[in-house]
Amino acid sequence: MAKKIMAIFGTRPEAIKMAPLLKALQKNSNYKLVLTVTAQHREMLDQVLELFNLKADYDLDIMQKKQSLNGITVKIIKNLAPILKQEKPDLLLVHGDTTSTFAGALASFYQQLKIAHIEAGLRTHNKYSPFPEEINRQLTGVLADLHFAPTIKAKENLLLENINKEKIFVTGNTVIDALLSVVDSNYKFADSTLYNFDFKHKQTILLTTHRRENLGEPMENIFRAIQKLTDKISDLEVIFPVHLNPVIRELAAEMLGDNSQIHLIEPLEYLPFANLLARVDLVLTDSGGIQEEAPALGKPVLVLRDTTERPEAISAGTVIKVGTDSEKIYQESFNLLTKKELYQQRSSAVNPYGDGKAVQRIINALDFFFKFTFEKPADFLADN
Ligand code: UD1
Ligand code: UDP
Repeated sequence: MAKKIMAIFGTRPEAIKMAPLLKALQKNSNYKLVLTVTAQHREMLDQVLELFNLKADYDLDIMQKKQSLNGITVKIIKNLAPILKQEKPDLLLVHGDTTSTFAGALASFYQQLKIAHIEAGLRTHNKYSPFPEEINRQLTGVLADLHFAPTIKAKENLLLENINKEKIFVTGNTVIDALLSVVDSNYKFADSTLYNFDFKHKQTILLTTHRRENLGEPMENIFRAIQKLTDKISDLEVIFPVHLNPVIRELAAEMLGDNSQIHLIEPLEYLPFANLLARVDLVLTDSGGIQEEAPALGKPVLVLRDTTERPEAISAGTVIKVGTDSEKIYQESFNLLTKKELYQQRSSAVNPYGDGKAVQRIINALDFFFKFTFEKPADFLADN
């Protein structure tokens, strides 16, 4: 009989990274998939659901303007309880490190349901960075019965926490599966800024920033560095899809709104965003997912954070952790944009996070867990 799997997620990156797996599970007769979205994000989540043609069976619709961590957590736990009681899934799937992930896992644990954690085992070991994601991910790891680690390093982190090795599967990251399905060199942008954009003759930076620990002074420092770069490099254009968080939008408009070299645009849908990533010269970001995607496309990344739970691309040379010091961001960006040799060294495509086959490995692991097969799947080993 088909096993009932319920996926619980709520933000843009969870949706993007889970979508290829959910599509595959829908087609697999061993499984019956139930989709529950918390809607911790609304517009940014709906864009992804529409792109991948995914329809929620349950939508908690919790998002509020300037929402608090307490508010998100409480609403998810309260609203999930009756759904879990009614559906009684054989397994819950949660992804990554958001508050939807942790609260979804906790509510499932309270019903004594089995939980599988995708993108398990990433660690900074710094409680407040990224905040609250480091602890969301650690706590989800404690609650989970199955751990899908994207890399060997992530598996090692879990082993150090005494997680049973039989419960850990190294799968690669599904973000690479998603990315490979959408990047297209003939892609035409609909966005008015990007429609006729001269990527060939301009130097381009793609900027994204949204981390809670960067709100306030760190983000002001980031924006100051960007201002200085446009002052010093006359053919530089900065494309900044601004997160829908009103706190970020107000600051971006105030500090960067008048600069004609800086394009503040709406958050892009995933298809244009991935294709934009494939065309720019340099990426400045505090995002987790973009740190994984850009190296696969051979784009150097400066990470605007003091810590990262994704050290693999730093070792590979395409990612540099610069933090939020204005002068450091400016200098590292300036060097990369003006020193050809350095740029070349840092822009060879590397794929430490996956080979596009993570979805199949996760399904093999689920088949093993439910005894549809008796062969434990082999771990993903990155070859660079
Ligand atoms: C959340 C996750 C973070 C993840 C990020 C991905 C937590 C605590 N944070 O952070 O781990 O990296 O998503 O983007 O789980 N908003 C909208 N519409 C949307 C989405 C957001 O208006 O579609 C606005 C709302 O005012 C909301 C605010 O943005 O209150 C912040 O959203 P929230 O999910 O709390 O934080 P993120 O920074 O998006
Ligand atoms: N992304 C997108 N549109 C944008 C910015 C990002 O589709 O305007 C995608 C990006 O390709 C990646 C994911 O959103 O897959 C990353 O989400 P985000 O940076 O919000 O969260 P994080 O990865 O830090 O949790």
